[in-house]
Amino acid sequence: MNRTPVVAGNWKMHGSRAANASLVSGVLSGLAPRAERVAEVVLCPPFVYLAELAQRLDQTGVGLGAQDVCAEAGQGAFTGEVAAPMLREVGCTHVIIGHSERRALYAETDELVGRKTLTALAAGLTPIVCVGELLEERDAGRTHEVVGRQLEAVLRALQADPGGLAGLARCILAYEPVWAIGTGRTATPEQAQDVHAFIRGLIQSRDARIGGSVRVLYGGSVKPGNARELFGMPDVDGGLIGGASLKAEDFVAIVAATQ
Ligand code: 13P
Repeated sequence: MNRTPVVAGNWKMHGSRAANASLVSGVLSGLAPRAERVAEVVLCPPFVYLAELAQRLDQTGVGLGAQDVCAEAGQGAFTGEVAAPMLREVGCTHVIIGHSERRALYAETDELVGRKTLTALAAGLTPIVCVGELLEERDAGRTHEVVGRQLEAVLRALQADPGGLAGLARCILAYEPVWAIGTGRTATPEQAQDVHAFIRGLIQSRDARIGGSVRVLYGGSVKPGNARELFGMPDVDGGLIGGASLKAEDFVAIVAATQ
């Protein structure tokens, strides 16, 4: 199965109007021309910069992602939240859901991640759904159990929806071992492949076609120096890049490593 790779830059809470302008222009000038690009590229800035980035990315073929979305579908009394249709309206194509920082720092549950995935799909956004274990969970040999539990919650939410599992075909998954995020400690290509194959296998057991086609990205200290090895693994379809996405040169080199 030939899956188009994806490289998404998660800027987290970084940026300013001036810094974003130079980062985006650096990325755009470093990427291959749109027609020759092998990977899909997505940039995910903080909410307040989305509209401005939408203009900068217009007609470039580079996708625009939010870093979170409200689980509630419409408008309403949800102070501080941003609805999926609003993200669509300002030009988002993607949204990161269930990032480990949202789970750990803002108490997002597996169930909430499932609901957010449905809400994003209903608005026509491509969810980038994150899963990943803590170091103590890996050390206790519980990696598959934890990642399986996180993924099952998303599958349950989809199955309870009239659209059923079909929505999963429009999702991108990201395996981000928490111990590898921002630590400089990357999963080995073999560790990544093991979990990616587990994720794909779990989906394949429900729907062989979707399991074969769904893209599973790796995230956690991906750098130009380790990207090619990671992306070379059979079930690693690209990356979700944090720190290295803030340097145009590094991010562009990581995109090139998908080739
Ligand atoms: P780093 O690439 O900085 O480790 O972050 C990974 C990440 O959390 C991307 O979502």
